[in-house]
Amino acid sequence: MTPGAFSDPVAAASTAATEAGGPRGATIEVQALRRLYGQVAALREATLSVAAGEFVSLLGASGSGKSTLLRLIAGLERASAGRILLAGADATALPPERRGIGMVFQDYALFPTMTVEENIGFPLRMRGIGGEARRRRIAAVAEMLGLGHLLGRRSAQLSGGQQQRVAIARAIVFEPRILLLDEPLSALDKNLREQTKGEIKALHARLGVTVLYVTHDQSEALAMSDRIAVMDEGRIVDVDTPRALYARPRSRFIAEFLGQANLLPVTLRERRAETCLFESPWGVLAVPAANVALGAGARGLAVVRPEHLLLVEAPPAGSRPQVRAAVSQALYNGAETIYHATCRASGLALTLLDKRAGHAPRTEGELCAEIAAEHLVVVPEDRGAA
Ligand SMILES: Nc1ncnc2c1ncn2[C@@H]1O[C@H](COP(=O)(O)OP(=O)(O)OP(=O)(O)O)[C@@H](O)[C@H]1O
Ligand SMILES: [Mg+2]
Repeated sequence: MTPGAFSDPVAAASTAATEAGGPRGATIEVQALRRLYGQVAALREATLSVAAGEFVSLLGASGSGKSTLLRLIAGLERASAGRILLAGADATALPPERRGIGMVFQDYALFPTMTVEENIGFPLRMRGIGGEARRRRIAAVAEMLGLGHLLGRRSAQLSGGQQQRVAIARAIVFEPRILLLDEPLSALDKNLREQTKGEIKALHARLGVTVLYVTHDQSEALAMSDRIAVMDEGRIVDVDTPRALYARPRSRFIAEFLGQANLLPVTLRERRAETCLFESPWGVLAVPAANVALGAGARGLAVVRPEHLLLVEAPPAGSRPQVRAAVSQALYNGAETIYHATCRASGLALTLLDKRAGHAPRTEGELCAEIAAEHLVVVPEDRGAA
């Protein structure tokens, strides 16, 4: 990296850290950020801290405010209230080109009449970097992203995957400390999406930049992120590691939003030091006390993931509680069979997984499963957090 190549204070603030061997990325602090469009609150209240070099996904349904938050951080929109700190410095009023941020837009936003080389070089031109220095940088990122042979082509003449690479190349060419990616894979077909997922992760590791990655695809967020910030109706409702959000959701909303969840109504009977005993349509369930997120109330919902229902040949002799369910549909995908079934005892519609090798899918009859109660989590009945 050429010292003094940066014209923005965020880069200057974190150059010292890089020279000392620290991560290249800059921290992002979003404090009580709001954005109103007339009467519409696109962002009601967002508070988030992202560490230097961290990969954080913003995951939420369409319209939950993901792009709005990204545009505010990039400086493309003004906040109605709240503050943004980048590399520890207040950037709330800083113009976009002084924030040290590269961004890949939801629709890529390439300049169609410019060549690939001109598109990639655009941020360098804006920063007054020309001549040999510009050519060298363009060649380096083009090489990194496999675009070397396309530099002379106009961006309107590229495939979706190639356009996406040009958009990434343009976002990283000026060596930003922060990379914002707004649903960068949504225009790609499934195979290319899988491949690009891996490439973006590798790029993150190689560059050490801080990444904020917007997606509405939970499997993308789970697979790629150090942490996931879940957004709902203009708010960040929870932030944690993929594993913690999936295995120990703190609310019904998170349990249903991330992965499959069968929700079983339960009532607290006894709270012990290590476990809580719950009455349920499946008998008494002993759930680890650390997995119980109930407030004062006794009633809640046990989050039963399909993998917590262990299919067995009926009738099992084990000591675990059991459940029986009538098959309504079997979806075989090679590695497993996904069953939709109706529980006899509770009337609940259940999803179960059969990963046992050599078991042919059954389209009718009854399934019997043991309940791995030690993995269950209990959340309040209402949609939000406890
Ligand atoms: N310029 C605007 N004027 C008025 N309302 C807007 C504007 N931009 C966004 N909104 C509204 O703000 C809310 C959040 O929009 P945003 O684009 O941030 O959602 P998103 O989570 O990125 O959704 P998607 O997954 O569909 O891209 C939506 O209700 C949207 O209609
Ligand atoms: Mg969006």
